[in-house]
Amino acid sequence: MLEEIKEKFSKDIASITSLSDLNDLRVKYLGKKGIITSYLKSLSTVTPEERPVLGKVLNETKLYIERAILAKENSIKEFELSNKIKTEYIDITVPGKFVAPGTEHPLNKILNEVVDIFVKMGFNVEEGPEVELDYFNFEALNIPKDHPARDMQDTFYITDEIVLRTHTSPVQIRGMIKRKPPVRFIAPGKVYRCDADISHTPMFHQVEGLMIDENISFSNLKGILISFIHMMFGEGVPVRFRPSFFPFTEPSAEVDMGCILCKGIGCRVCKQSGWLEILGAGMVHPVVLENVGYDTERYNGFAFGMGIERIAMLKYQIDDIRLFFENDIRFLRQF
Ligand code: PHE
Repeated sequence: MLEEIKEKFSKDIASITSLSDLNDLRVKYLGKKGIITSYLKSLSTVTPEERPVLGKVLNETKLYIERAILAKENSIKEFELSNKIKTEYIDITVPGKFVAPGTEHPLNKILNEVVDIFVKMGFNVEEGPEVELDYFNFEALNIPKDHPARDMQDTFYITDEIVLRTHTSPVQIRGMIKRKPPVRFIAPGKVYRCDADISHTPMFHQVEGLMIDENISFSNLKGILISFIHMMFGEGVPVRFRPSFFPFTEPSAEVDMGCILCKGIGCRVCKQSGWLEILGAGMVHPVVLENVGYDTERYNGFAFGMGIERIAMLKYQIDDIRLFFENDIRFLRQF
């Protein structure tokens, strides 16, 4: 009888390959209702003479089964481990994959330099939306609908009333509405114009500047801008202010600096003039101040705006603006 059980058990265990099946087998023989357990329980029904003999054999069988299960368990575990080592093998001698680190984009670099200079001079940094109301981009800046001054800036219209901002000047309006004078901030950001050639891209970057207080004069404007140009391009660079026109400033000026390439002698970049135009500026037009509800008897100020691409092109001597946006890593790595 017991020999039969042993034989049956040996067959059962031989076909087992997983730990969970092995556990089922353990329950089948040694569990509470297992085969061996029920034999052990039935010991009480045999005669006192038979009991020790049968008990001994039963215990031996139980021990045999326990050992066999333990041995099987070890061999399954060993097999699984060696399998795991084989399939999850990692060759730590293989060279790693190269992750190319990016570089700071030259435009961001210049933009940050410009911002840093004005922050040092006490300007805050203000931001505004790139999708802008016609009102903020034009009308509040004294550029009425159908006015010929709109021709200065070729616009992308979303609707009749919504445009992609053509300059950072609408941030002047938003910034002034938000606070009471005195105000002093710059507004860096992307702007859009319907323009594309070697020196124009449909999207480019500007930094706007605005300062409003009592008794601000044109010489304050000159002082700030000359300091800026000297910090950006070097002490001693000549700077000149030329009369110009913007609807939102009066008087208005275009600011030139001496050509940094030919040092004023005349070259291809400065079109033989010896000068490079880098800024638009002027005293904020009273109509603009009235549009934001500022008291024009008491407050006045100046504004300026510059193109970041232009400054970067001059500083790094890049002759095609489109290089900035082609994302050729060989170009970008050079800065
Ligand atoms: N917004 C003008 C432009 O984009 C530049 C400017 C700004 C001029 C502020 C004067 C004052 O051309």
